[in-house]
Amino acid sequence: MNAQLIDGNAVAARVRAEVKAEVDRLKHEHGLTPGLAVVRVGEDPASKVYVSRKKQVAGEVGIQSWEHHPDEDITQDALLALVQQLNEDAAVHGILVQLPLPRHLDPDVIISAVKPEKDVDGFHPLNAGNLLLGRPTTRACTPHGVMRLLEEIGCEPAGKRAVVVGRSNIVGKPMALMLLQKNATVTLCHSKSDLRREVDGADILVVAVGVAELVKGAWLKPGAVVIDVGMNRTPDGKLVGDVEFAAAAERASFITPVPGGVGPMTIAMLMRNTLDAAVRYGRAPVVT
Ligand code: GUN
Repeated sequence: MNAQLIDGNAVAARVRAEVKAEVDRLKHEHGLTPGLAVVRVGEDPASKVYVSRKKQVAGEVGIQSWEHHPDEDITQDALLALVQQLNEDAAVHGILVQLPLPRHLDPDVIISAVKPEKDVDGFHPLNAGNLLLGRPTTRACTPHGVMRLLEEIGCEPAGKRAVVVGRSNIVGKPMALMLLQKNATVTLCHSKSDLRREVDGADILVVAVGVAELVKGAWLKPGAVVIDVGMNRTPDGKLVGDVEFAAAAERASFITPVPGGVGPMTIAMLMRNTLDAAVRYGRAPVVT
């Protein structure tokens, strides 16, 4: 293997330590404890694992958290009422509605109902729009975490060709915008793209599609920085990314492992976003 591994566990631990230090200070100097409300609808098994990890990490960094766990068959109106209650709760600085939602619920409606100041996912149209406009805003956790990983390895996007594979609202689109804001020349690929041709030119490659080993190592430009957001379970039970790891590691200069690359960064950045939301709340004028 030629590539250096990007140790997401180590960087995430550093982010959590930074957040914890600031949370402690906020508590001692301002008597303010950041609070995160997580809403998990129904019994999606992956969501259960993610949410329990989010609560665990929140506890570790001193953020108070609550899990709301309505039944699978909750109506959209009842879920909106829960979101409204959390919007009005002064102890809650961050609200996260875990996706995916059951099919009868419209995620756009639910996400839009979260107060933008409390939207620690960065999914609300106001926050997503501010990112598009290049304004300061709450940034979606996974691409925010990827930007931090690039910083940590000293990868400066300005002037580089960045190729993002996957155009989801959660990762691909905000990822492309964050790289653009750092002055990369960005290509955003999707299922109709000629992937091999696009990947060939990438100095920075971010793949977030959820298809095991879709991107072949042989397609990479030698020296590319490869960020693999994918997490796929193979039939024999192995966890693999969206990039063919062993072959990619022969050509890349840096590469994220799966697991232990991007995964831990998502939750660390959620803690950062929740802390920032609490700090903004603490600074806001008190309305009586
Ligand atoms: N489901 C998968 N990733 C995410 C995320 O970052 N936030 C939320 N709310 N749901 C998700």
